[in-house]
Amino acid sequence: MWISRRHLWATCASPCGHLPRDGHTQARRRTGCATGPIGHGAAGDVKIPCMRRLHPGPAADVTIGELYDVPRPRAPDGRPRIGICMVSSLDGSIVFGGGSAGLSSANDIEVLLTLRRLADVIMVGAGTVRAEGYGAPRKAGQRIGVVTTSGDVDATSPLFTSGAGFLICTDETPDRGVEALRVGSGRIDLAQAVDRLAELVPDVGFVQAEGGSHLNGALLGAGLVDELHLTLSPQMVGGTGPRLADGPDVATAFDLAHLAVDEGSFVFSRWVRRGITETTSGATSGASTGG
Ligand SMILES: NC(=O)c1ccc[n+]([C@@H]2O[C@H](COP(=O)([O-])OP(=O)(O)OC[C@H]3O[C@@H](n4cnc5c(N)ncnc54)[C@H](OP(=O)(O)O)[C@@H]3O)[C@@H](O)[C@H]2O)c1
Repeated sequence: MWISRRHLWATCASPCGHLPRDGHTQARRRTGCATGPIGHGAAGDVKIPCMRRLHPGPAADVTIGELYDVPRPRAPDGRPRIGICMVSSLDGSIVFGGGSAGLSSANDIEVLLTLRRLADVIMVGAGTVRAEGYGAPRKAGQRIGVVTTSGDVDATSPLFTSGAGFLICTDETPDRGVEALRVGSGRIDLAQAVDRLAELVPDVGFVQAEGGSHLNGALLGAGLVDELHLTLSPQMVGGTGPRLADGPDVATAFDLAHLAVDEGSFVFSRWVRRGITETTSGATSGASTGG
């Protein structure tokens, strides 16, 4: 979804092998990444996406895997946990130049990809699919649910021809020849959709919602946002871009689970809905990254 603008890599201080660029499954087992020389960049050096965790203390250099690959218990009522992943400008826009790419960075993309590896299901609004384009997932067995009332999606795109994409829609949404989870007449019942995801992905435990603004607002309105993974892009962009959530007025309190910053002044935060079980807060890596 997001295009890389640049790459921010630090060289691991621990004795390293030759990891592939996206070898975080191995990298996250290593011990931090910035106590040694940074960025000497010779062929064969290990490049680990790295940022400085400011909260919880003490401050430390951490990998993205260490920050984000944490246990995510189900919601209290037993439904899958739902986390939103977004990037925003300093002045609150989630769009610059028609999409999110102009707000993003290599580390932000790595956060998105890390969370995708942890998710069983991706949920995304049809507006975002139309604006940004979505392909087949990299993770075997992962499904991508596109929320739409109109059914206006490209059923011939790899997202759907791969068999991974499906529609989350109403009884009235036209049949597009792709699998459809029909949840409600007239309007989409997102709570019912979440409850029925297990029909498509048994044991679904973590759902990543990837926007846009209207889907986020509807999830928030339905009380279905358990965590927010928010990257703050260090720029103001003006314009009339949407906010993180566009929907009914609803105040939902969150607690800060982690806060980190990288060399480019991008700020990475994870917020967990107040009252949701949180067994760890970023200092300790979980063990569930699929690779
Ligand atoms: N910065 C970021 O991290 C980020 C992330 C994602 C997206 N974006 C940007 O956000 C923009 C899109 O945002 P958006 O708010 O317009 O789009 P959106 O929420 O992705 O999609 C809106 C469309 O999705 C369907 N939809 C979503 N929620 C629905 C609900 N609860 N009930 C029924 N239908 C629902 C409808 O589709 P139909 O019209 O087909 O019925 C609606 O028109 C794009 O410019 C994209 O680049 C930014």
